[in-house]
This record gives sequence, structure tokens and C-alpha cells, in this order.
Amino acid sequence: MKAFVVFLSVAAVVRPSSFHGSGPDAVVEMVPGSDQVGGRLELFRNNAGVIIQGSVTGLTPGYHGFHVHAKGRLGDFCKDAGGHFNPFGKNHGAPEDVERHAGDLGNVEADSYGVAYINIADYHISLDPSSQTFIGGLAIVIHAGVDDLGRGGNPESLKTGNAGKRSGCGIIQVVGGSSSAYLPPQPIQRPFQPVHRPPQPVHRIPQPVHTPPQPAFHYQPHQPNYGRFELEFPPRFSPPRSFNPYYH
Ligand code: CU
Ligand code: ZN
Repeated sequence: MKAFVVFLSVAAVVRPSSFHGSGPDAVVEMVPGSDQVGGRLELFRNNAGVIIQGSVTGLTPGYHGFHVHAKGRLGDFCKDAGGHFNPFGKNHGAPEDVERHAGDLGNVEADSYGVAYINIADYHISLDPSSQTFIGGLAIVIHAGVDDLGRGGNPESLKTGNAGKRSGCGIIQVVGGSSSAYLPPQPIQRPFQPVHRPPQPVHRIPQPVHTPPQPAFHYQPHQPNYGRFELEFPPRFSPPRSFNPYYH
């Protein structure tokens, strides 16, 4: 019984529950900012906060500041997303700090291929549309540099964490359920997937094969000189000895 309970709790961690059925409650398609960033994130709403899972490509190896920003705009190399999402007027901080922006999700680490695999649970943001910390329609930004988490010892550290340029960003697009009614319609852009069709048999109308009329051909094996010329058989008269059938 104890083992069974452990199994259930492990399964719950591996596969986050979704508020609206089996899929994610929001998705983010990452687009380039100052770097050729791509990737996709899936966000799951739970009672206490949000789980963010997915990957971001096109980064430099190492740590990158990762935040929810206040505006759902991506223009001007992601600068149009504005500052960190900060509904309570706090200073910038680390995810585990009490004094932090709601959008402060710390750093994510990209591997030697420049890919950051993200699996974050955070309880200062929400996908509940009635919450002050609702992040639907806002932007997620991933930075070129490391977020100093408010420990940089300068004023900028308490605003941005000195995380540098915005390598990429994406809109938090709520999918399904009633919460999407709180947002302007935002179609989810997916990369074009060609539809696989099995090869279809080609249906041809059978065409009669046209063959020119062939002269009647009668095999007459017992006729001498068969195929060279025709002789009446039996001959009505005997040809003269000089008769040459090839030059006649
Ligand atoms: Cu940021
Ligand atoms: Zn911040």
C-alpha cells in the first residue's frame, strides 16, 4: 500500500495536472529577440500556481534570466514586453524571495547545444483569470545574460537583475476553457505540419490496346518454302525449271 501511494505521487510530479482536460492550460511559442531563439513552453494551472515545462533553443550555453514581463507585446527585439510583471510594486528578487516581482522566475540553464530544458513550478503567478497575478496574455522573456536576482548591489539589480538583452520572448496564450474569454482572440501559431497521406492506388480506366489489323497468318508446316512465297498446292502446273521464285 505504501509503495502504491509513492507510485501515485511520483506519477503526479511527472505529469502535471491540467485545469482544462489533458492538454496544457497555456502555451508559449518563443520567437527571436536579440538571438535566434525558438522553442515552446506548456503551462499548467494548479491550485497554488503554475507549472512551466518545455524547451528554449538558440541560446548561449549557461544561465539566462527568465521572467514574465508586464505586456503581451514582442516587438523591438522583445523590448515592447515592458518591465517585469510586478502587480504589487516590489523590488526584483529571486524566485524563492518574498520580496520579488511576481514575474521573477530566476535563471534557466542552457546546455552546450544552447537548449534550456525548463521545468518550473511557481506560486507567485497564476493562470486563474480572477487572480491579480494572472499571467495570461503577458509575455515570457529569456535574457542573454544571467539574472543577479537582486544581489548585484546596484539600482538596476533591484529592477531587472542586470540580465541583459532579451534573447527571445513569447506570448502566454491561454488555451481552452472559460479563461480564454478574458483575452482577445490569439490564434496559436504552430509550425506547418504536412498531412501524411498514404499512397493512393491510381485508378485507370482500362484502355483497349490498339493493334493494327494483322494479316491472317496460317501456319502451314507441310507447305514447302513456307514463308517465302506461296505456291498452290498441289500446283496447277509445274513451273519451268528456270523459274526462280526470288526474281519472278
Ligand atoms: Cu526579463
Ligand atoms: Zn524582476
